[in-house]
Formats: sequence, structure tokens, C-alpha cells
Amino acid sequence: MVFNRRAHFEDAEDTPSNPVISEPLGDIIARRYSRRGFLKGMSYGGLGVAAIGSMNPLTAAIANGAGSAGRFAFDEIAHGVDTTHHVAEGYDADVLIRWGDPLFTDAPAFDPQRQSADAQERQFGYNNDYIGFVPLNGNPDHGLLVVNHEYTNEELMFPGLPGPLDEHDFTGLTRELAEIEQAAHGLSVVEIKRQNGKWQYLTDSQYNRRLTPRSTEMAISGPAAGDALMQTNADPSGRSVIGTLNNCAGGNTPWGTVLTCEENIHYYFMGDTSGHPNVALLERYGIPAMGYAWGRYDDRFDIAKEPNESNRFGWVVEVDPLDPTSTPVKRTAMGRFKHEGAASVISSDGRLVVYMGDDQRFDYLYKFVTRDAVDTANPAANRDLLDHGTLYVARFSADGQVEWLPLIHGEGPLTADNGFASQAEVLIKTRLAGDALGATPMDRPEDVEANPETGRVYVMLTNNNKREPDQVDAANPRPDNTFGHIIEIATENGDHATTRDGWEILVKCGDPDKAEVGAMWNPATSENGWFAAPDNCAVDHRGRLWVTTDQGSNWAKSGTADGVWALETQGERRGTGKMFFRVPLGAEMCGPCFSPDDSALFVAVQHPASDGTQAFPGREERRSSFEDPASRWPDFKDGMPPRPSVVVITRQGGGSIG
Ligand code: FEO
Ligand code: CA
Ligand code: CA
Ligand code: CA
Repeated sequence: MVFNRRAHFEDAEDTPSNPVISEPLGDIIARRYSRRGFLKGMSYGGLGVAAIGSMNPLTAAIANGAGSAGRFAFDEIAHGVDTTHHVAEGYDADVLIRWGDPLFTDAPAFDPQRQSADAQERQFGYNNDYIGFVPLNGNPDHGLLVVNHEYTNEELMFPGLPGPLDEHDFTGLTRELAEIEQAAHGLSVVEIKRQNGKWQYLTDSQYNRRLTPRSTEMAISGPAAGDALMQTNADPSGRSVIGTLNNCAGGNTPWGTVLTCEENIHYYFMGDTSGHPNVALLERYGIPAMGYAWGRYDDRFDIAKEPNESNRFGWVVEVDPLDPTSTPVKRTAMGRFKHEGAASVISSDGRLVVYMGDDQRFDYLYKFVTRDAVDTANPAANRDLLDHGTLYVARFSADGQVEWLPLIHGEGPLTADNGFASQAEVLIKTRLAGDALGATPMDRPEDVEANPETGRVYVMLTNNNKREPDQVDAANPRPDNTFGHIIEIATENGDHATTRDGWEILVKCGDPDKAEVGAMWNPATSENGWFAAPDNCAVDHRGRLWVTTDQGSNWAKSGTADGVWALETQGERRGTGKMFFRVPLGAEMCGPCFSPDDSALFVAVQHPASDGTQAFPGREERRSSFEDPASRWPDFKDGMPPRPSVVVITRQGGGSIG
């Protein structure tokens, strides 16, 4: 097969590692769903909403939205695919910062022909994903962006690589390139400011910082810190680790820190597992997947040489961007899995609840509930809040309830006899603990976002083309789910800490005009308003939901590039999508983040010119590469490769987005 890093990621995600597949739920679900399906031909309408409402606890607030006009005023853009980006009329979408842009006054300018790891450590990293905005001095026009750099696309980054490469063929991937790759991972913290109406990033900032898996020391805290399974030759204490890997989405905390999530950690490890003491654990996490050559040059990425190093990744990491000398902390109480994001909300009793998806086919939805309440008056008092609390995994049932099952050592099956010697082991083996508890295997849980005003929680389930017809259940109702769906969880009175909530499906994605797709949208959704593969999302300060997509190469099936869609959640138009922004060919859309007054929307264009580009007219015979990329977005200059970039969207003449 032709090697393309991104396609390789998608293929690996294709292979579920969870052997526990839920039982078919039988006639109850069939009755429930056939009744819903009967209403308005799998769509919403006034009648349908009323009927659905009478069947589960979501009824009340559904009626509380705007009238037939909807809550979004912009004119939507059209589906389509081309080499650049598009935004709704009346808005500007400006590139704010690109891969390689210098972050410091003395940092080298980006030179794609002469890259070095040391230069990359002083420049904005590759494949921007999560974006968190932390205001400075309460100013909505001035703050810090904390941006994840999830992974690297060698074929687009580096000149002169031989190609096409086969999977796991690391020809040309020298130690020098491996170090540049490491330096391009991690996070950037960058100060930004709006001046004369335009947002700009600053290089003379005391806050700017790069965090990488090459050089940044991080602490390990919580119940798994110091455990024998966390100890390595370099760190016999099990409490200190260099760097963070595959930082996907994340979340901001109410006390000004940012949570960054380690997702597809398995790609970074190689080596022989035959003598490994915990093969079942490795297998459940897909380790080693050999996506990178790092283990050739760096023993800690060779599982045979450092059997525990992989246990030190797969966590949520807390970063304090306001203190550039601070040591980031891996919070083990929040569990170890392929973390997509970490969405915080203060529950009705004052404790913090963090919702988290484990992004793999047939993996689980989790939430973490802190033991103590958030001190909203004193940010420093929350420093160790995330070290104490309870992790729960979700079990959805067909009666519209979701039960949250605690991962507590000694309770239920989580005992030493079953391979969980301590709470540390429950957390290091979170996926195995979720299996033992009978959690519901989901269609790849990506981002989650809570609406603090309504108490509703939105769960993006991006797709699952491995679900067989006899594996469907109420919460994952479509076999071969190519296009994904969104679940809405309804807490009672904003009590996010409870062990039981209501839920229902908000939309089933894909083209509503194709019966075989089985989509479900409000009939008010236009031909451009539907989307596929929901991935990241944001709730703006008016409580409205925005969804971004990651179809991979499936844009060829939907006919549109990824982008940003507004999605109505209340009132008559509940379940209506509307397209706002579109990415260039081969990119996905990450990181939607609103400034505190909603006057700016920051989005991350990830891996432009990468995914499925051979489906683009004229590109059929041409692999996208550094020398011949499918798009040179955003510079469009000869010799300049495509560059993942953060784009800032503002309204012409000012005002809030949407
Ligand atoms: Fe990194 Fe699940 O997307
Ligand atoms: Ca991604
Ligand atoms: Ca994602
Ligand atoms: Ca995704």
C-alpha cells in the first residue's frame, strides 16, 4: 500500500482492540427505533419531537428554543472541495499562525529546505488540533492560545523522501528527521492580540512556549504516580516523563489551565513484545503500532528495551500557560486511554466534571468527577483538584438512560483476582476495567461538550465502519456507520456528578436524501447543512452548538470537504445543520474555540493536502508529497509545502460570530 501517515492512522483505527462487543438489545430497541424512524421518515419535525419527548426525559428543554427562524443568522456556504478555504459571506477567515512560524524574537525563520529539530523547537508545530484561549487580564481581545500539535505528515513535511513508501517502511526517516518530528509534536503557547481590528500573534511575549516529546519534562501525579508499571530505567521513581504524545483535543479548566489529551500513543512504539510482562495490556491499547521510526534512535520507544514507557502515555495532561516555567502534570486519576478531549463543566454541587471520549471503534465514553468543589475565587487552590475523584464509564440502555459505572479498585470485578492489583492498575488499564464493568462499546467517541446553561452534553461519535448488523444497539444504531452521529445527554438540574442521566440521539449524520444512509436531520436542513464524521465541537457563549468534521478520505463519499457547521439543539429547528466554514482539500477541521465575547472563532486546519487527495480531479495518479502537494495552502508559493495553520474568523464590521 502507498504510505500516507494519515491514511495509516485511519487504517490502524480500523482495527478494534476491544474484544467485548455489546449484546444485541433485541425487540425493545427495535420497537423504540422503528417508532422513531416512522416519524417524518427518520427526521425531526414538530410532531416527531413531541413524540420523542414523551418517550424520554429530554422533553422539557426541547421546546425552549427559538422559533422557526432558528438561532443562526449567517448565510450558509455550499458543500464542495477545492484547494483553499471558504467562510460565510460577511466574515473574514485569516491565517493567524502556521507550522514553522517563529514563536520567539530570536527564533529562526521557517525554511522548509533546511529544517532542524532545534529550529522546530522554537517554531509553531505541525498538525494543530485543540485550541484553548486563556484571556490575559480579563481582556477578550488579548490572550494566550494553547494549541496542540497532534502528529506529523513526513511525506508533506520533508523534501527528498523516497516514495511511495510501504507501511512500516522507514526508508529515509533518519535520526535527524525523527528529532524534527518530535520537535513538531506537542503544544505551542502563543500570545495573541487584536489590534486595529486584526488578530496577530506576538513573538516578544513572556508567555510563548513550546512543549514537545523531545525536551519537555512533565510530572506524573495521582493514584498511578510511582507505581511499578510506571517505572523505567530513566525514571525509577515513576513520577517524571519527557513529553507528551499525539495531543489531540483537550479542554480549558475554570481556573485558567488547559487539559491536553494524549490520543493515538500506540504509533510511537516499536519492538518485540514476546517477552513483555503485560502483553494483554499492550494488545488492548494496540501497542506497538510502529507508525514512527523513533524507537530506532531512542530506546524509550522500543517496547523490548523499555517495557513500561508506553504506560506513561495515554493520559490527560494539565498545562498552566500563565506560568511559562511550570511543569505540566499528567493527571492519572482521569484514566489512561486514547483520549480525544476533556470537557469541563462545574456541576450543580460545585465539583468539576470532565467528559472524555476514547476514540477507537468500540471504545467507551467516560467522565471524571472531582472529590472536591472548584474554588472559583482562588485559582491556585485548584492545583491538585484533578488528582482526587472518581472515573466513570458509560453504559447506555435502550430505555433512554445512561448509567455511569465507577472505576474503583475493589468494587465489582475490579479486584486483584481479575488483574487489578490497586487503583493505580485500574487506571493504567482503564480500557480493561471498562471491559470488566460492561461499558457500552461506542462508534468512536471523539469530542464532548457540555452546555452549562441547559445541563445538556453533546457527544460526537465520528463513525464505525466495523459495526456489524448484529452489533447495533440503541446508542449505536447503524451498522457500518460511515457517517457518525451525535448523542445528547440530559442531566437533571445541571447535576453532572450523578450516576444516571437521560440521553437520545440528536442527529444521525450523512446525506438525508439517500435512504440507504439512514440519516436523521431536521427537515429544515438544506443540501449543504448536513455533515458527516463529527469530531470536535464547541458551545459558544450563547449556548449554541458548533461542530467540526473529520471524514478522512470519506470526503469523496460525501462530496464536501470538512468544515464547521452550526447545529440547532433547541426549538422547532432542533437537529438542523448549517455550513459556516470549509477547509482546503485533504485537511480536517479541528479546534473550534470562541473568544470570550464570541467575536472571534479560532479553528485549526489540520493536515492540508493529505487525506484522500487521489480522489480529487487531476490528482488520480499523483501522490501528494512535499515536491508535488495536492494544495500549497495557505501560502500558495512555489517550493512552500502546505502548512497546517490556525485560522481566525471574524465578522466584517465587528460583532459576534453566527
Ligand atoms: Fe485525534 Fe480522535 O482525533
Ligand atoms: Ca486529528
Ligand atoms: Ca479529533
Ligand atoms: Ca477524527
